[in-house]
Amino acid sequence: MGKIILTGDRPTGKLHLGHYVGSLRRRVELQNSGAFDRVFIMIADAQALTDNADNPEKIRQNIIEVALDYLACGLDPEKTTIFIQSQIPELCELAFYYMNLVTVSRLQRNPTVKTEIQMRGFSTSIPVGFFTYPISQASDITAFRATTVPAGEDQEPMIEQTREIVRRFNAIYGDTLVEPEILLPDNAACLRLPGTDGKAKMSKSLGNCIYLSDPADEVRNRVMSMYTDPGHIRVQDPGKVEGNTVFTYLDAFCRPEHFAQYLPDYASLDELKAHYQRGGLGDVKVKKFLNAILQEVLEPIRARRQEFEQDIPAIYHMLKDGSEAAREVAAATLADVRRAMRIDYFDDAELIAEQSMKFKK
Ligand code: TRP
Repeated sequence: MGKIILTGDRPTGKLHLGHYVGSLRRRVELQNSGAFDRVFIMIADAQALTDNADNPEKIRQNIIEVALDYLACGLDPEKTTIFIQSQIPELCELAFYYMNLVTVSRLQRNPTVKTEIQMRGFSTSIPVGFFTYPISQASDITAFRATTVPAGEDQEPMIEQTREIVRRFNAIYGDTLVEPEILLPDNAACLRLPGTDGKAKMSKSLGNCIYLSDPADEVRNRVMSMYTDPGHIRVQDPGKVEGNTVFTYLDAFCRPEHFAQYLPDYASLDELKAHYQRGGLGDVKVKKFLNAILQEVLEPIRARRQEFEQDIPAIYHMLKDGSEAAREVAAATLADVRRAMRIDYFDDAELIAEQSMKFKK
């Protein structure tokens, strides 16, 4: 069996730098590496509805935003099947069968679900659909026989849940499903890019995001007002680089060649950090450097997005084609699942013959 990628995003807003370093940049590299037989990227609208049931318009509006961000970053529909989760009804059927293989207490232990329940203030009124979304995510992954799921650290519990379902399914019904692996970013800063305010995560509700589609001056303002080291008051004071958002972003984005280009007084990030720690290096200089790098990353993305924005019908068309192609694959897996579960009554000539024998007098 070949190597297959499946991953995706909830369409609850435009994509930001956290998405970019956490998974998006990697996906594009993997797509272009030629090492994978197929790449599936899913806009997880059905999952987004599990905690936005009362706000379907938000999901509907953001489908195109996410698709534009994908294309702008370099995902290429010629190489990658981009599709919309809700257009693949087979995924629901798989989830319905997988539900029999997971206990309530197992779902309650999922750390990502636990945090999300707290963040959304669900406490005891947790929608069942939300509670069971890890099972639905197992359907997303297994339907495409994915071997590899490039995703952020917060998705680890989902992949572990998927692996458990696969093992249990295969043990009961025979070898049918593929056990996937998560592919995490290899750089610690990318694993968990903080918000511009230094808070743990970029999140729309905290207003601490830099979006891939933000205009250049907005990016600049965000960088110039970024959280640094509150103890670093005068330029000559020694500063901390740990927990200093500007340096975390540099860890995620800076490459050696950026110094020659934008900050030739320093040879490497280590040198820059050492100077900051020693004292005598002001925040503004470091922020300007980060801004130059981010503009270099974001400018081509913004330009490509603007081109794609000129033909929105073509994007819906691409998503429709992608969804049709994805559906074929999911339907083939579902047929295997039904056969393995012995609910393929009408396709099983043996069953009919056997039952005839049993009842014939
Ligand atoms: N849970 C993912 C997120 O919050 C989205 C998602 C849905 C996903 N199904 C998936 C990711 C399958 C990877 C694989 O962004």
